[in-house]
Amino acid sequence: MKKIYALLFATCLFVSNVAKADEGMWLLSLLEKLNYKDMQAKGLRLTPEQLYSVNHSSLKDACIWFNGGCTGEIISKDGLILTNHHCGYDAIAELSTVQDNILDNGFWAKTKADERKPVRPMSITRIVRVDDITDEVLKQLAGVAEKDRSMKLMEIYKGIQKKATEGTHYEASCKEMFKGNAYYMFIMEKFTDIRLVGTPPQNVGKFGGETDNWMWPRHTGDFSMFRVYVGADNKPAEYKAENVPYKPEHYLPVSVKGVKEGDFAMIIGFPGRTNRYEFSHGVALATDVVNPNIVNLRDLRLKAWKEQMVQDDATRLLLSSTYASIANYWKFFDGEAQQLKHNKVYEKKSAEEKAFAAWAENKEEYKTLLYDIDQAYTVYKPYALQSTYLRECIMAPTIMQLASFGIGLDILYAKKAVVLADANKSKEEKAKAATEIDSTIAKTCRDYLRALAEVDYTERIQTADKKIFAGMLMMYYKNIPSNQWPAAFTKIAAGIKNGNAEAVFAKYTEMIFAKSMFVSKDKVAEFLKNPVAKKLYSDPAFSYLKSHRDNYNTNFKSKVDEFQMQALALGRKYIKGLMEMQPNRVFYPDANSTQRLTYGSVKSYDPKDAIHYDFVTTLEGVMEKYVPGDYEFDLPSKMLDLYKAKDYGRYAMSNGKLPVAFLTDNDITGGNSGSPVMDGSGNIIGLAFDGNWEAMSGNIHFDQKLKRTINVDIRYVLWLIEKLGGAKHIVDEMTLVE
Ligand code: ARG
Repeated sequence: MKKIYALLFATCLFVSNVAKADEGMWLLSLLEKLNYKDMQAKGLRLTPEQLYSVNHSSLKDACIWFNGGCTGEIISKDGLILTNHHCGYDAIAELSTVQDNILDNGFWAKTKADERKPVRPMSITRIVRVDDITDEVLKQLAGVAEKDRSMKLMEIYKGIQKKATEGTHYEASCKEMFKGNAYYMFIMEKFTDIRLVGTPPQNVGKFGGETDNWMWPRHTGDFSMFRVYVGADNKPAEYKAENVPYKPEHYLPVSVKGVKEGDFAMIIGFPGRTNRYEFSHGVALATDVVNPNIVNLRDLRLKAWKEQMVQDDATRLLLSSTYASIANYWKFFDGEAQQLKHNKVYEKKSAEEKAFAAWAENKEEYKTLLYDIDQAYTVYKPYALQSTYLRECIMAPTIMQLASFGIGLDILYAKKAVVLADANKSKEEKAKAATEIDSTIAKTCRDYLRALAEVDYTERIQTADKKIFAGMLMMYYKNIPSNQWPAAFTKIAAGIKNGNAEAVFAKYTEMIFAKSMFVSKDKVAEFLKNPVAKKLYSDPAFSYLKSHRDNYNTNFKSKVDEFQMQALALGRKYIKGLMEMQPNRVFYPDANSTQRLTYGSVKSYDPKDAIHYDFVTTLEGVMEKYVPGDYEFDLPSKMLDLYKAKDYGRYAMSNGKLPVAFLTDNDITGGNSGSPVMDGSGNIIGLAFDGNWEAMSGNIHFDQKLKRTINVDIRYVLWLIEKLGGAKHIVDEMTLVE
């Protein structure tokens, strides 16, 4: 009997280990120890050294952090970079004008000399090595009180980073893992001369728009290409026309062999943020409070912008990149809330917490943990919308972003007033201190003037902005309890009688836009050149913003900070406890914009009863979705010609169709966008660009059955470059594996 149980138990363990293999965003430097055998069993044909090596070139060198928010990969010996279209979107849109509209028309550089320098500087970052600094950090943290921990950490990081990079051109970044149970340092090489090589037209690169975003079946050619340039010594250098293409440590060969269900697939990238060890309380807060509010606030902003964007191309080009990124997470937060509920994540987390509580019952260190969590959330919940509203409501109108220049100056003016009123200072001392502050003010104004140049605030944008401002007043009025309002807002709302809130807010909005200097970039510039405090303080837009800022800072900031500190400390303790409770489980740290690897396989799924989703989409599907003239589903006419001619060349599948996108069960999140999907030999087979709707709860809970990664098939990318873009020379630059 016993034996049978033991055996059963062992098989269960085995089965669950296998099933879990696709979950996890693993640190590359730990693969050999934690995952290598499993990866090999699943189809990896590389050595650990070929994945990550400090001394030799390895895959880690080819998979780079793209512009601080995405991933890219080097795919030629001349520093050619592949990433998503939505990662290059900003750069592409900023280079576009109504006359030279590369966003809508696409672009391929005929020669290196044609490659475009972005309007704003970009960067890519290579990981040089990763050091485990846990012992050193924890030693230095010993005895430090929780409230001083984050300050102390900054100091510790600074010391370690300085030592690690002294005498090199590298940068270092220390990162907390497992909410502070481990620490790692990433030594990085950052390149800043990045140029645009090419992009498909956006109705291919963003085909399906917001309607298809976060969903399968998908038909988007979501890619763009850049190149890294360096000095003659192959080291990072600021942009110079005479810089040369970067010769990388490693670049990825491109496989055109195609994929089939079950094939091994791994992804290396820079996932931004997950919260897999979140408490059930946090899940409830997201589904019931925070997410629905973010969705409604963004909805308002998007509608107002869209109304203007469809009216003229210039406004559309100005707003489209920001629009896309706001829309992306507008849909994300909606889907996340829906799927957290649908996939019963609250219930799953609660059950895990119950099991933990039972285990912890008589363990001094852990026995009150769940009670403490409960307490922390109960205290925090009434204020949980404060920071969200500051960010997504108060600061949403562009006029508030301009008025926020005043916040920095306000602080300096206040500082000056204190100095001048200081009874302990002589007249000379006061004058000296005041002059110093004045020069800081002047410098700050110069910085703001530069920032101002980057803000777009045309008349059309302002029309939308007014609607947004008025709408946000209403949202604040409806959703924030009146005992949390700043006095200034209470005064505005006092004018509301018999449900005429809309009229009151419309009138207030008219007043702001008629009287504030922040409606005009010229007026703001004039003020910044001669920053008279009185002018700022008499500005109604600034006063409005300041009332909210001050209200937040005096009444809520300390509560929010306190909660965040507690949640982190309790989370740290929870993970530590879980590790003791489950000594055989292999833990992976939450995503935190550091380089990770996830491995699994090409895999279809069943989203609902009686529905099966195949793992691959084709050009036929693109044509099925095609709607001439539509904002999201139009196509370039050349694409239709190519489709009619079935001109797929070597990129067709064995059934004669052209592949577009495919699914894997890898574990990715935002930040992984643009990551290479590789076969067992490290050849690129696709480009990760999204997650699927049914698993939008994935940042908090990895659902084995439902979570998928959506990838563009590399053969579609190559076809689009060669046939649609007529840029075969770019394909020829790569190393193809046939
Ligand atoms: N959902 C994708 C991601 O977060 C971004 C897709 C961008 N496209 C868009 N329609 N906004 O990686």
